Amino acid sequence: MPERTPMIAGNWKMNLGLKESRDLVKSIAEGIKAMGDVDVLVAPPFINIPAVKSAIGKSNILLAAQNMYHEKSGAYTGEVAPQMLLENGCTHVILGHSERRSIFSETSEMVNKRVEAAIKAGLIPIVCIGETIKEREAGKTFDILGAQLEGSLAYFIAKESISLSAIIAYEPVWAIGTGLTATPEQAQEVHKFIRAWLKDRFGGESSGTIRILYGGSVKPENAPDLMSMPDIDGALVGGASLTAASFLGIINYK
Ligand code: 13P
Repeated sequence: MPERTPMIAGNWKMNLGLKESRDLVKSIAEGIKAMGDVDVLVAPPFINIPAVKSAIGKSNILLAAQNMYHEKSGAYTGEVAPQMLLENGCTHVILGHSERRSIFSETSEMVNKRVEAAIKAGLIPIVCIGETIKEREAGKTFDILGAQLEGSLAYFIAKESISLSAIIAYEPVWAIGTGLTATPEQAQEVHKFIRAWLKDRFGGESSGTIRILYGGSVKPENAPDLMSMPDIDGALVGGASLTAASFLGIINYK
């Protein structure tokens, strides 16, 4: 089984001003110096990406955008193209976050176009999927997640191969910003399902290599138990990524 380097990713959502963003990144960079083999990533709002890139300096914090559009350029008011993210220092892009899906009506079909554009531009997509509480209670969790995977990863399915650097994030919608965390066992059950789905579609090398992050009320207190699960390879953190103390507490989960 290939080693999967854990990733702790901070999705700042629409939070933090310019100074707060720079200060936070500098504190994280200071704090992770002595820490071991964990990939650390931050995803600020678009407009603060250049400032965060310069605050990252020589530290190896990775930089992501929270979204992007699939076209290269043109009359798409308010949108940002893959190449613009690359030029501003992003290596990753979060796609299909549940807030984008529910508040901004983004569909798996749209996510799939962005996944394709990201890969073609040389950005690593972090593709988010997750079920609502209604869907979970109706026993539809795996049907919903299966459909989101099919739709959002259609580009890879058509090619019959997936980029080994692609990242999947499982974020149960009912656990985002609610303080309700999936238990480690609930999260593991879904991560195992996702890995089996990847194996079925793309074979053992892909399913063994691709990282699957968990997101939804991850905190320093629950990170160790979540991260001890065999198919949980990291965390996509919202609220607790906004202060150095709590984000470093998660990064330092061991
Ligand atoms: P919280 O950690 O605030 O629940 O947010 C999770 C999330 O949506 C990360 O993308």
